[in-house]
Amino acid sequence: MNTTVQLVLCFLTAVLGSMTRAADDIVFADFEGKDYGSWKAAGEAFGPGPARGTLPKQMRVEGFQGKGLVNSFYKGDRTTGTLTSPEFKIERRFISFLIGGGGWEGKTCMNLLVGGKVVRTATGPNVKPGGSEALAPCSWDVGEFAGKTARIQIVDAASGGWGHINADQIVLTDRKPPALLSDQRREFKIEKRYLNIPIKNGAPKRKVSVFVDGKPEVTLDIELANAEPDWWAFMDAGAWRGKTVALVADRLPEDSAGLKQIEQADEIKGAENLYHEPLRPQFHFSSKRGWNNDPNGMVFYRGEYHLFYQHNPYGWPWGNMHWGHAVSRDLVHWEEIGDALAPDDLGPMFSGSAVVDWKNTSGLGKDGQPPQVLIYTAAGHPMVQCIASSTDGRNFAKFSGNPVVKEITGGNRDPKVFWHEPTKKWVMALYVTLPEKKHTIHFLGSPDLKDWTALSQTEGFYECPDFFELPVDGDATKKKWVLTAANSDYMVGRFDGTRFTPETEKLKGHRGRGFYAAQTFSDIPAKDARRIQIGWLQAPSPGMPFNQAMSLPLELKLFSTAEGPRLTWTPVKELEKLRAKSHRFGARTLKEGGANPFAQVDGELFEVRAEFEPSADATVTFNVRGVEIAYDAAKQELIVNNHRAPAPLRNGRQRLILYADRTAFEVFASDGLTYVPMPVILKAEAKLPGLSIKSGAAKFIALEAHELRPAWK
Ligand code: FRU
Repeated sequence: MNTTVQLVLCFLTAVLGSMTRAADDIVFADFEGKDYGSWKAAGEAFGPGPARGTLPKQMRVEGFQGKGLVNSFYKGDRTTGTLTSPEFKIERRFISFLIGGGGWEGKTCMNLLVGGKVVRTATGPNVKPGGSEALAPCSWDVGEFAGKTARIQIVDAASGGWGHINADQIVLTDRKPPALLSDQRREFKIEKRYLNIPIKNGAPKRKVSVFVDGKPEVTLDIELANAEPDWWAFMDAGAWRGKTVALVADRLPEDSAGLKQIEQADEIKGAENLYHEPLRPQFHFSSKRGWNNDPNGMVFYRGEYHLFYQHNPYGWPWGNMHWGHAVSRDLVHWEEIGDALAPDDLGPMFSGSAVVDWKNTSGLGKDGQPPQVLIYTAAGHPMVQCIASSTDGRNFAKFSGNPVVKEITGGNRDPKVFWHEPTKKWVMALYVTLPEKKHTIHFLGSPDLKDWTALSQTEGFYECPDFFELPVDGDATKKKWVLTAANSDYMVGRFDGTRFTPETEKLKGHRGRGFYAAQTFSDIPAKDARRIQIGWLQAPSPGMPFNQAMSLPLELKLFSTAEGPRLTWTPVKELEKLRAKSHRFGARTLKEGGANPFAQVDGELFEVRAEFEPSADATVTFNVRGVEIAYDAAKQELIVNNHRAPAPLRNGRQRLILYADRTAFEVFASDGLTYVPMPVILKAEAKLPGLSIKSGAAKFIALEAHELRPAWK
């Protein structure tokens, strides 16, 4: 057979590869070592040894096995070279391997050489911009060369676009690797609410296209489980009752049970255990299934707080960006009501905000009902800003005239919109990267949320801006504007409807870990007038069918300090609803070596509040579920799980508030000037909380420990 024929066949009959290795398989190369061992590299492209995954400036490389692989993107596409194996005897019928990268025949390829001649060859799949760095299984039938001596040569002779090759896990095997079939299809006549989809974390991502009565609906990247899944994702098919839904996977091994296992059901799989999973945060919001990152579209509308969020409904890691959607009447109990925005022709649905268009400037209201308008980034090529609206807070329609803001530069994203009453217009704060990698926030203005014009720019802020006005020390006649960035750095200043004039330098926001892309609720009724923020709490939940969480709802205020106005964060008062059993200890002085006042406190979830005056040398240490939270009075620092944060005494006093959930702590000190979020997975075994004085003494004015109940029903 000539090489061209073999090349084509390789993609028709590619294999499951080493995932299902037989005992007598020979692993010829797995590229897990520091160097290439007895393989010989020539030229520069293959670097000093196997890559550990993705190389600098490369799209995410996935689908390789273990930690190392051959990746000729070393110093980018322009480098070339070869990597040649030692001689080996062909002792098995097939050679299977993983391959990815450029699809240039003869130039970005892996060759089998027998007698110095290329007898088999394979390339990666990509010859066009875009594409994917995923390696896919491939194999050659080498029966005709049985007993012969051969070498494998990996070639990178291309230096333009996709001028590199990735390879891994070369195995000699006698088992015919199952063919990889393209366009595998399964159809459902929709009679039930959900399609439950089996997911195997780390399995090759398949492009799964969904068609409803033949019309393309959405295309997803799914790690479909060929056999036993790790967990089940669900697709809400409620809107498609009576229709025919087809799921088409781009490639699947012929023996895959991936599509076959999908079930139509009225319940999501695992519903009986929902919110009781071992690492399910009990009073922090997390998605029923899949991944969440940023909170989006936070708005109070028709009596409910709406929390949308960056959601991958079909994977444990980031991907397939949808806007998930949950509502709450009290900021404590959330009901997840299903995704509001799904990827479309303009791209995946990246972060954004929401407003109530009280005056119906957009014309998207109905029957006198002002619309709830979502402003989001469609992250395709180009990356643009779009709107969608609803008048019931449940059903969202994308605006037919999208996009409303064209691409300014690639990567512009995360629109935060608000109504500016003094100049009677909508204002958008948008993250834009300018040439030379300058991070800027652009302000744009609009009369109707549809037509936007540029107003001004501010430098130095990266991703997910939020922008709002706050009274200083609660005085409504002394208001200041606050601009925050994704990492929660902020500036305080003035805003005249066109331009933001900072009056502080860039200040540090939270002082802990894993808190990102926070935003505040829009349209909280004037009589309440709180500014309430929620951030993405980067608290992983390994082994669970969901990943990550949201921070507690935090009330933001501006306090004047000797250094100028500063933000404070405190947990919203509604969280008191979680208190199941409260222990209040009278005023007392505790000394080094004294008894633990918390001896009677028990449980899993806690809120602790303490107000104390420490001696100059005191260390006051709380031990909650095995994690230490200490106040070091000499250094005026708070220590949470060994992480230190500045926490000044205020008039000689420290006031601490601490919440402990299953995957995170949130600690507040110095009247909210210090906010320390801290993802940490607590030990399952219940540990009684403790309070001890490691040195010195502390006079407690108040001390409370509350055993909390879960927020989930
Ligand atoms: C921040 C971010 C945003 C983007 C979104 C995509 O975490 O990178 O800038 O819109 O996540 O999920």
